[in-house]
Amino acid sequence: MSPDVIAAPVPDGMNPELRLHQRGRAELEFLAAQRAALDPLRDRVKARIEASPEAASWGEAADPEIGELRAAAERALAGSAEPGVIGAALAWGRGRLTPRAVAAFEAQREELLELAQAPDPAAITDRGDEVVPRYWKYEFHGTTGGWDGHEHMGFVHHELVYRYLLVPAYGDIFRQRGQVAAAAPRTEYAAICDLGCGTGQYTLKLAETYPGARITGVDLSQASLRYAQRRAADRGLTWDLVRAAAEDTGLPAGGQDLVTSFILLHEIPPHALRKVFAEAFRLLKPGGDLVFSDVAPYRERSAYNAWLDDWDAENGNEPWWRTTATADLVETAEAAGFTEVRQQPLGPGNYPWVTIARRPLERKEPT
Ligand SMILES: C[S@@+](CC[C@H](N)C(=O)[O-])C[C@H]1O[C@@H](n2cnc3c(N)ncnc32)[C@H](O)[C@@H]1O
Repeated sequence: MSPDVIAAPVPDGMNPELRLHQRGRAELEFLAAQRAALDPLRDRVKARIEASPEAASWGEAADPEIGELRAAAERALAGSAEPGVIGAALAWGRGRLTPRAVAAFEAQREELLELAQAPDPAAITDRGDEVVPRYWKYEFHGTTGGWDGHEHMGFVHHELVYRYLLVPAYGDIFRQRGQVAAAAPRTEYAAICDLGCGTGQYTLKLAETYPGARITGVDLSQASLRYAQRRAADRGLTWDLVRAAAEDTGLPAGGQDLVTSFILLHEIPPHALRKVFAEAFRLLKPGGDLVFSDVAPYRERSAYNAWLDDWDAENGNEPWWRTTATADLVETAEAAGFTEVRQQPLGPGNYPWVTIARRPLERKEPT
């Protein structure tokens, strides 16, 4: 019998050829079901927070303070077991997710290599391990071993973790990348640089939206870049892929018409955030555009969503979510020399949240 008798629908951007054997699939589906089973508990937490008059004042404050909201929510949740149960269950699932996804890959290594291998890894420019900042080695979202914890982590993360856990939990998260690509001010770009391109999910949307553009993808993860190269090749595309820090790409100055990123900023500390804006400025031609999409600022979220973002970040290995969600990115962009800085929400709950800016034609010295 075929191991994939009950074929699940293939989410947009994922490999339709993937046939995961029953054991690997069942383990990942179990973890997804375990996560979904927490929904009624989350609903109870939400109801308590929304009923709290203290938490409700979040929306009225001119300059809301997340620490005060967290304290108000704690008072509203006093005596309730739900946050502890949800936290413990999520931690349990996170600890198993990457190991089970890797095990599913290893169980079918030979056939999955056919789908995962990069056609020409030597074509990926590698600036070497010395450019890798210490913060990047943290296990974001509990990804065991970090972004390069397995030689094919790009494939494992994109084709298994996304497909079996994140898409069922959050829906069509790839469509948002298309919306962000289309939010850039111009309809055509000759040269685009995608910072923190990962396995190329957003890069692919850029390539679809701007088919004439030469695209450069920058990331620190070798495994992700290799799978990005594979995904591009499968579609007949060629991207310039560079393993480097977004804050110091080593790319020539003034060569890009659009510098952009999708959910990179909340994975980097404040000092790197400022450097990434400065590097984007350096990479852009005068008159070029910056489009950075990331988590919505807490002040733009409802009380429950702001609380949930911050609680999830704290309990879900996201050390830089809070600093990014409370950063003044308009000021950061202006300090890097950008003008015409604006921000806009693209979806429900103000997510994705996009910061758009322009490198002025006349060089204005950064402040
Ligand atoms: C959440 S993933 C997003 C990937 C991709 N943009 C997408 O749309 O799916 C964040 C990516 O940023 C990369 N990253 C984190 N810090 C970085 C840095 N300082 N320089 C370059 N890449 C970085 C990680 O390796 C990871 O691939």
